Amino acid sequence: MTTLITHSEAETGAAGRALAPGLSPGSVVLLFGDLGAGKTAFVRGLAEGLGIDPAEVSSPTFTLLQEYRGGRIPLFHADLYRLNDAREVEDLGLEELAADGVLAIEWPEKLPRRPSGSIRVRIEDAGDETRTIHITPSPTHPITTSPTHSDR
Ligand SMILES: Nc1ncnc2c1ncn2[C@@H]1O[C@H](COP(=O)(O)OP(=O)(O)OP(=O)(O)O)[C@@H](O)[C@H]1O
Ligand SMILES: [Mg+2]
Repeated sequence: MTTLITHSEAETGAAGRALAPGLSPGSVVLLFGDLGAGKTAFVRGLAEGLGIDPAEVSSPTFTLLQEYRGGRIPLFHADLYRLNDAREVEDLGLEELAADGVLAIEWPEKLPRRPSGSIRVRIEDAGDETRTIHITPSPTHPITTSPTHSDR
């Protein structure tokens, strides 16, 4: 697990950007953290790192799922905060999408089943603009360029 401390939204974006080069189709990134923790800020950086205009990334609160193309790999961005019925999540077909691109999920606690091979990102508000970010790589879908995995 990697732990980072950021002091601004831009720094959290940079953390997302740094993760992007190691992602490949099938990568799933689960984003845990309270309202306003910085999950969307992290996804914006992830988008940028994949070659997508970060300004396109908003909080897809009312749509559950947004799709950004035009980068190295498509990015699917789900925000499950407003999900009430677990059946709705089945309808989104997240697992099929994941195979074609990178899938980033805010509020993954709402999933009926947690995808097993996911990268877990946990963002904690440490006061003011300070955030502690814990990144746990997927055991089954390693972050390919991470130096900590170069021995695989
Ligand atoms: N170090 C930091 N990293 C990220 N965001 C920060 C930081 N410091 C302050 N902020 C502010 O915190 C807020 C983070 O908002 P963001 O939409 O990314 O949160 P979120 O976790 O996606 O919330 P939600 O669950 O509502 O979707 C922004 O207003 C941002 O400016
Ligand atoms: Mg958000």
